[in-house]
Amino acid sequence: MELYLYCFILLKLYIISAQGCRLYMCDAPDNHALLIYTNGTGIFYPDIVKEPWPIGSNIANTDSSGGSVCSLGNQKNAPFEAIDIPEGEPLIAACTGLKVRYNDGEFEESKNKLKNFEKTSLTLTCRNDQLMNNDRDNEIILWSELGCLGRPRSDLKGNSGESCGNQQGNLHTIGWQIDNKLFIPQIDICFNKDLETTLYTHHFIHGRYIDAQGNEKGRPSFKQGTLFSLNDVDDLYKKRSQEKLFPQLLGAPDHVAKFWNKKSSLARGHLSPDADFVTEAEQDATYYFANAVPQWNGFNGGNWLIVENAARALAISREQTLSIWSGTHGVLHLPDELGNNVPIYLGLVENKKLLPVPELMWKIIYDPSEKQSVVLIGLNDISDYDDKIFNSTDSNELDDHSDSSDNNNLWNSLSSAWELGMNTLTDLVVLDSFPLWIGENGITKSSSLNMCQELFSGTNWVEEKNYNTDTKGNMMCCSLKDAKKIIPTLPDLDDTSS
Ligand SMILES: *[C@@H]1O[C@H](CO)[C@@H](O)[C@H](O)[C@H]1NC(C)=O
Ligand SMILES: *[C@@H]1O[C@H](CO)[C@@H](O)[C@H](O)[C@H]1NC(C)=O
Repeated sequence: MELYLYCFILLKLYIISAQGCRLYMCDAPDNHALLIYTNGTGIFYPDIVKEPWPIGSNIANTDSSGGSVCSLGNQKNAPFEAIDIPEGEPLIAACTGLKVRYNDGEFEESKNKLKNFEKTSLTLTCRNDQLMNNDRDNEIILWSELGCLGRPRSDLKGNSGESCGNQQGNLHTIGWQIDNKLFIPQIDICFNKDLETTLYTHHFIHGRYIDAQGNEKGRPSFKQGTLFSLNDVDDLYKKRSQEKLFPQLLGAPDHVAKFWNKKSSLARGHLSPDADFVTEAEQDATYYFANAVPQWNGFNGGNWLIVENAARALAISREQTLSIWSGTHGVLHLPDELGNNVPIYLGLVENKKLLPVPELMWKIIYDPSEKQSVVLIGLNDISDYDDKIFNSTDSNELDDHSDSSDNNNLWNSLSSAWELGMNTLTDLVVLDSFPLWIGENGITKSSSLNMCQELFSGTNWVEEKNYNTDTKGNMMCCSLKDAKKIIPTLPDLDDTSS
């Protein structure tokens, strides 16, 4: 009996003590290593923990006000950020980047190393609440020892040869090269090399962890990578390059000024946005030109941003991982001073037409657990449409499989919806016709697209009225099935919502 009790107490002590490894973010070393699942499927993310500080914790120092230096608020026991590694869980701590290159097919080890170990990665296991080095038995490794020489950097991985976007693109991936075998993907990129533009990107929003995301002060500059033949993509986006380009395309300065001016110009529009990612290293990894397209700045910071925020808010409120595709369609045409429709490319160099300004930008928000999706389609043009004539015949250069009438249908169905007075998403929200479907016969109403309503119910879009589609971009909501009728490059998804 006594022995039984003794064993019971021991067991209980063990259970209490072995809670897994809690790595406090306030205790993280500079440029901390990525902590990776050993099966290569993901990253261990920090979370916001709303629990009292553990008694006797040597990390839970209190500051003069009695609050913990680690906590997010000033009060004692305010929430704090930590990565929780389950007991018994193996993981890889990796310092990637700083010139990981394939040299004639040979993998060269990253020059970025764990400062304290002269190695690029370590395999660890959480045992009895401590990280143990798998290579050296029972050697305890502290979280504070897992700093890299520099912040882990991503790679844009060469073409796998896999086609995508209705055969119009090839798949590439931004991710993390851990060693010569293990690569952790972050953003898939469907790239069209004939026009040097991105048809779409794909990533996940881990709604469960976004609240604990890193909050970087600066932003990195965009990297060109190896996908472009253009010499200097960054230069083509610069305002002074655009200032020269637009008169060449559209003619007289007073005509050009209706479309392009120093306040209204083309920005580096992220497809997969930095703010959708948890760690600062992941946020940095969104800064590739292959993850951006020329987007009017008013749209970029207007309704496109609102949709990005709404997607994130949905993932956060559902504590869910949502699957996100962000893409482009067609080439924007603007009238020159004689009334000709001119396709707009930033890369009009060496007799090439590269880096098109997309006519449409779209986003699919997909819930893999419920197999539900919604598509937001926006017009990448913030100039006044009344002045324009749209009967171009060559706006469909991207799509070999359909003739130009498809694009006109698209334009007609979008513009008729907007002409019907439903010309802003605000209106769509206010009208109970929201959500809308773009069907074969133009726009029809439907109430079956619940995700569309849920997406905007959490925003104060309507209340704030800080919103003007003339300058912030028109967008609308529809089902994947209907969107696919007009944008054939959309991915096929297992979707029961349409
Ligand atoms: C990979 O490992 C993580 C962490 O242990 C686990 O949650 C996940 O289910 C694993 N996935 C697969 C496909 O094995
Ligand atoms: C566009 O099409 C209409 C009708 O076919 C025609 O009247 C008009 O002249 C066309 N505009 C241009 C710029 O081609």
